[in-house]
Amino acid sequence: MSLRKIGILLSGRGSNFEAIQRAIAAGTLDAEIAVVISNREAAPGIETARRFGLKTVVMPSQGVPREQFDRELVRVLNEHQVDLVCLAGYMRLLSGYFVQAFPQRILNIHPSLLPSFPGLDAQHQALDYGVKYTGCTVHFVDEHLDNGPIVLQAVVPVEDNDTYETLSARILAQEHQIYSKAIGIVLRGEYRIEGRRVICV
Ligand code: GAR
Repeated sequence: MSLRKIGILLSGRGSNFEAIQRAIAAGTLDAEIAVVISNREAAPGIETARRFGLKTVVMPSQGVPREQFDRELVRVLNEHQVDLVCLAGYMRLLSGYFVQAFPQRILNIHPSLLPSFPGLDAQHQALDYGVKYTGCTVHFVDEHLDNGPIVLQAVVPVEDNDTYETLSARILAQEHQIYSKAIGIVLRGEYRIEGRRVICV
């Protein structure tokens, strides 16, 4: 039987989370959002989740030691029987403890073609570097920043007159497409991992 229950971790706007929820509502993704967790009280995404009637948990992380925080996070995710953790604009590094609690069961979306431009402000990094193409990446999360095996990527052209805003919007539209697709592949088990390569089967 395929896995179904997703736990969403977010810190901000939550548009990727909304796109996942839309795909579920439209029937293109067979999954259930078991819980949406924010480490920031004021994250607009958590308000959206409440409006959708989803189970929400706010766990302020500021000043809490990483592993102590992550232990509580793992407890809450397990309490909701989460099969797959989806980071959706979750702006906090995960501890080894967390990663080991969900081996190959954590996905992240990042607004660049990894391994280019990891970390913060990937769109600024792409503009500053002068690349002609950038994009977005859905990858498994390991203990290193923006590093695990890549499930899907989408390529986005950089136009000469792009600003941070116009480029970010073009990338975000692709993020909203590929995240749900990648979640479906992983939940249905339609892949195998060979070294760093995720082979879709
Ligand atoms: C997205 O662009 C996502 O790729 C990025 O934060 C934004 C969150 O938007 N994540 C990272 O940069 C992680 N390194 P959202 O809250 O509207 O989904």
